[in-house]
Amino acid sequence: MTLSENIVDYSNKKILAPMSNASAFNPLGASRYLADAAAGFGLFYISPHSLDLVYTPETVDKRIIGSTRSYNASIGTIDYWKDGQLNFRTHPSEKSCVIFQIGTADPDLALQAALTVAQDVAGIDVNCGCPKKFSLQGGMGAALLSKPEVLKKILTNLVQNCGRPVTCKIRILETKDKTLELVRMIETTGVRALAVHCRTKDMRSSEKAQWGILSDIVNAVRTIPIIANGDIWCYDDIDKIKKLTNVSSVMIARGAQTNPSVFRMEGFLPYDEVVKAYLKKCVDTDNSYQNSKYTLLEMYTESKHTKAPEYRLMSKAKSLRELCSIFGIESYFDEQQMVHTARSIMTTPATPSTPQGENVAPGPLPKNQILVIGRRGVGKLALIIKILNASSSTLSPSVPSLTDPAGHAGLFVPWRIDTKSYSADVQFWINEIEDGDVGLKALRQYKGETNNVISMPNSIVFVFRKDQPETFKDLQGWVAFVRKHELATALCVGVSSNLRLMVDGIEARREKERAIAQAQGKEQGYEDWCLQNGFEYIDIDERQAGDEDSAQSKQVGLARVLEALRPNTWNCMTAKVAVSVDLNPLERTQRSDKEEREQRSGAILRYLCIGDSY
Ligand SMILES: Cc1cc2nc3c(=O)[nH]c(=O)nc-3n(C[C@H](O)[C@H](O)[C@H](O)COP(=O)(O)O)c2cc1C
Repeated sequence: MTLSENIVDYSNKKILAPMSNASAFNPLGASRYLADAAAGFGLFYISPHSLDLVYTPETVDKRIIGSTRSYNASIGTIDYWKDGQLNFRTHPSEKSCVIFQIGTADPDLALQAALTVAQDVAGIDVNCGCPKKFSLQGGMGAALLSKPEVLKKILTNLVQNCGRPVTCKIRILETKDKTLELVRMIETTGVRALAVHCRTKDMRSSEKAQWGILSDIVNAVRTIPIIANGDIWCYDDIDKIKKLTNVSSVMIARGAQTNPSVFRMEGFLPYDEVVKAYLKKCVDTDNSYQNSKYTLLEMYTESKHTKAPEYRLMSKAKSLRELCSIFGIESYFDEQQMVHTARSIMTTPATPSTPQGENVAPGPLPKNQILVIGRRGVGKLALIIKILNASSSTLSPSVPSLTDPAGHAGLFVPWRIDTKSYSADVQFWINEIEDGDVGLKALRQYKGETNNVISMPNSIVFVFRKDQPETFKDLQGWVAFVRKHELATALCVGVSSNLRLMVDGIEARREKERAIAQAQGKEQGYEDWCLQNGFEYIDIDERQAGDEDSAQSKQVGLARVLEALRPNTWNCMTAKVAVSVDLNPLERTQRSDKEEREQRSGAILRYLCIGDSY
């Protein structure tokens, strides 16, 4: 592959540090909004926050190698998928400021990883500072600091062959001499800049960063800019570290996580403003609510924030829309959902192409299914029938009876979602868990790269009997699956023994049983467990307390199941309302000349009424 090299000037820059957090729900990293350049997040920083460059969180070489590059029509991003997992997402408009960081221990793998993403990023960085066991054991991160000969080969190979400017980010060594020897070697490889985290690999982040060594490094390395990193918390610190050490550029991690406007010369922007801007970017880029919530909570670290009512509401939020409503921007969420759908429809089925005209692989299969799992007899089909009834959707005559002795494993039940603004034909897909198997047998069919079935579920609904705790335990087996496949909605629905009777119209002793079952649910701590493991717990018997008509009151029980499942971005959605769609430059290239002219003269107003067969 030949790539014309982009020039990135690393001098006198304010840079967002790479940040990932493997323990977070989102596999892309807790702080992906900060650094992954995920879908315009780089721009979120660059425009209002006076930032120059964005480093992505570390991606291990083998994880990105072999990824399929695909165009995401609904949000206009380039996505890199592998094994059903999204590894990197970026927007073409932020290409000139995104530096992709690789975790590697091998020159060839490093190059393959760099070449995989090179066309979509401005530069490549090698992580030589990660002190985590996983990195050290693999010879990556800070392990490279004690293997300078390997590091030299990696950097040289990248510099000579990847077609993008290369940098590396190190930690300091135990002595000044060792550090200076290392940085001089790095300079000889041809890297364009060197980022120095002023802590040794054994220092904790709570220990003060050792800025003192930076001036020695600046004096030792004359040909490339030094980027200072560690304990820069406000704009004054930027001035201070530059004056004290003569470093050319600065890189900020936790300071930016707490308040992204740390880069502004004029000072911090108010939290409210930053939070709203961030949330809007999450909506624009279809970011998962779990990741958005984590990041918002990380911004709110001072006690004046953690004690604020918003903090409590955010902690409890179970959807991106709920997060938006805390800050009064739920209407923005609703509008953007429509825009995403409209874009998706308008750009399908044309083969997508980038502004340069190169083809990209098609995206993953449409996610149109709601996987309904749980043991035989817990009430999966009964729950589906309740959902159909509540949404005035008819039950297909081919659906067997509730008491069919063959069970309902593998059964597809069509559901027409009909809202004021759109309709969509989706399917429930029942999968039964056998006793003692914790669902592993059912899971097995999702394994294997060639198995397309893996990408079909959009959402998962786990059903169990509140009075039979053993039917709840099976849920453990599905936590990893949900995390891996980034399902839009993951519900755990607790039902009571009378669910089937209720569907049949016999509601004997209903209130009494409901009260008992609800109490049982609380006793078992189902809700807490679900909260910690990425599922939303819904007690199907719960009834709205107090003023049911209040706009503020939250939906519970069956109403909440419907509310959670309906608003996803379904394939074959038919929009019913007028939508104003502002296409970005990438998408504009895909429109015809006539539409291009329309586009130039303003946003296109379309009345969308596209048939299911489109
Ligand atoms: C949550 C988190 C994730 C991080 N992930 C990475 C990473 O993926 N790659 C990397 O080189 N450094 C990573 N770091 C280290 C930071 O980039 C930075 O070097 C360190 O936090 C010191 O800067 P600060 O004092 O401004 O926070 C991470 C730091 C944090 C807090």
